[in-house]
Amino acid sequence: MAYRQAAAGWLRRRFGVTLDPEHEIAACVGTKELVASTAHFLRLRSPDRDTVLFPAVSYPTYAMGAVLAGCRPVPVPDLATGGPDLSAIDPSDSARALLLWTNSPSNPTGALTDTGRPAEWGRAHGVPVFADECYAEFTWDGPPRSELEAGPDGVVAVHSLSKRSNLAGVRAGFYAGDSALVGYLLDVRRHAGLMVPGPVQAGAVAAFEDDAHVEDQRRRYSRRLSFLAGVLGTAGLPVEPPAGGFYLWVPVPATFAGDGWSVAELLALEAGLLVSPGEFYGPDGADHVRVAVVQPMSRLELVAERLAGRELTAVS
Ligand SMILES: Cc1ncc(COP(=O)(O)O)c(C=O)c1O
Repeated sequence: MAYRQAAAGWLRRRFGVTLDPEHEIAACVGTKELVASTAHFLRLRSPDRDTVLFPAVSYPTYAMGAVLAGCRPVPVPDLATGGPDLSAIDPSDSARALLLWTNSPSNPTGALTDTGRPAEWGRAHGVPVFADECYAEFTWDGPPRSELEAGPDGVVAVHSLSKRSNLAGVRAGFYAGDSALVGYLLDVRRHAGLMVPGPVQAGAVAAFEDDAHVEDQRRRYSRRLSFLAGVLGTAGLPVEPPAGGFYLWVPVPATFAGDGWSVAELLALEAGLLVSPGEFYGPDGADHVRVAVVQPMSRLELVAERLAGRELTAVS
């Protein structure tokens, strides 16, 4: 219960959202397992529904969760301003949807969802909305936002210490919101043994209750993002700073002969910088690469040295 109370305290502090820790919050073993397993568990509850909706350019586990559940993964196109284009969802897909995933700030694009729109759409269509907000602390455009600000009905927000506190190895997350959904998942997940060990919970309470370390990490990411964006821009790969998250979503320049894979190869060969081809996040991402600023400044300065005076055009 201390874990759930600490999570409730953080939700209140960070988003001004008040939930009942006993009935509206539950622990998960990091959030990847929850993302991968939720469609499977919801399908047991609603066997007449077989479709998982998720952002077209996104963390691959939303689609993988659909596949593992024997469901149809149906990508929802992104709005240019960020977040899902809900008007593009075919009524035949919403009628079959088990859930809609949203992710704000987005991995990989850093875009923010207009909070409240997915909740409204989900309620109108009887589709639960699962809002993956694990990068919320690293929101750069305005304060962090949660879909729960629109109320918990039909909404479950998903959070993790992996990003907030840099504790990915600890495997501590939680899901929070609609009491019927949280209560159902808590019951079935218990039978699958998906419980967070006591010592991990005790450490996680300390992390949830402290904000100073998050401020330090925000400063680090912010400095790295602007430094690396500057280095890449000078080398011929201009990129806008993200609205949130700790990734640069770099478009392949129109003049460049090749796609995200070629840029990834070039950056590896010329700068020793390992980045992800955008295709990892769906076919719509193929003309981008994702650069994670998870290395210290000394490593990023090395990249700057290697690229100094270079204009990247093609593999030499
Ligand atoms: C969007 C998103 N959701 C969930 C996760 C899973 O994180 P964890 O299982 O460490 O909480 C990640 C990890 O990269 C992610 O990028």
